[in-house]
Amino acid sequence: MKTVSRSSINHLGRDVSHLIPAYDDVPGMITMGERDTLIWQLATPYLQTRDNDAHTLYSYGIARQLLRHLPDADEHIVLPAIICHDTGWSTVDEYDAFQAIAPDRDGSYDWAVFQHEKEGARIAREILSEAGLPPADVDEICDIIDGHDTRLTALSLNDKIVKDSDKVWRVSPHGTDVAMPRFGLTREESLRINGLRAYGNLFTDEAKNMSLALIAVECMDMSPQMMELRESGRLND
Ligand SMILES: [Fe+2]
Ligand SMILES: [Fe+2]
Repeated sequence: MKTVSRSSINHLGRDVSHLIPAYDDVPGMITMGERDTLIWQLATPYLQTRDNDAHTLYSYGIARQLLRHLPDADEHIVLPAIICHDTGWSTVDEYDAFQAIAPDRDGSYDWAVFQHEKEGARIAREILSEAGLPPADVDEICDIIDGHDTRLTALSLNDKIVKDSDKVWRVSPHGTDVAMPRFGLTREESLRINGLRAYGNLFTDEAKNMSLALIAVECMDMSPQMMELRESGRLND
């Protein structure tokens, strides 16, 4: 677990550290377990294109929270799938990948999207077999990865959660950040472009609620009222 130093400022003037709950006692606080850490380590070499490594970690966190509210899903399928889902981009040239995901794409680079899905399923099979997952689980995970972007229907609840976690990331601070320089957008334009797809295309109400909360925080962060606070020096950035 990462340790960070405590603030050197204490306006209260008393030590309250004995009241801080244990990490695992707080709902929603997560760390990667042993199985997922191993899969992550095996997947990392395939996630170093663009921001896919960070995208994967944030999507993993979103999937973990969705699983809390969707107990009928199987975390043994969802979590390895989300870690491996974009490994196939490692086989696509970065220029081609940008063309394939650009807001004004015309379909001529769709082959790259299909390739990252197919190759992702192939790479995932190698990674997950090496990690010792049961063959039936590996089959289900690879079926989810092959089509995670282009298949408009979901195969199962597990598939829905993988798809939703991938898309909710778009309205996370990281998702908004990375789209700005990619496509020459302001922060607000980036949120508008990503926000539409991170709501209308979601399968589960739980993901829609998560998406709305992230969008709301971002909107307030960019609001004229918050800008005023920043300019007045009353808000610490
Ligand atoms: Fe993808
Ligand atoms: Fe993704």
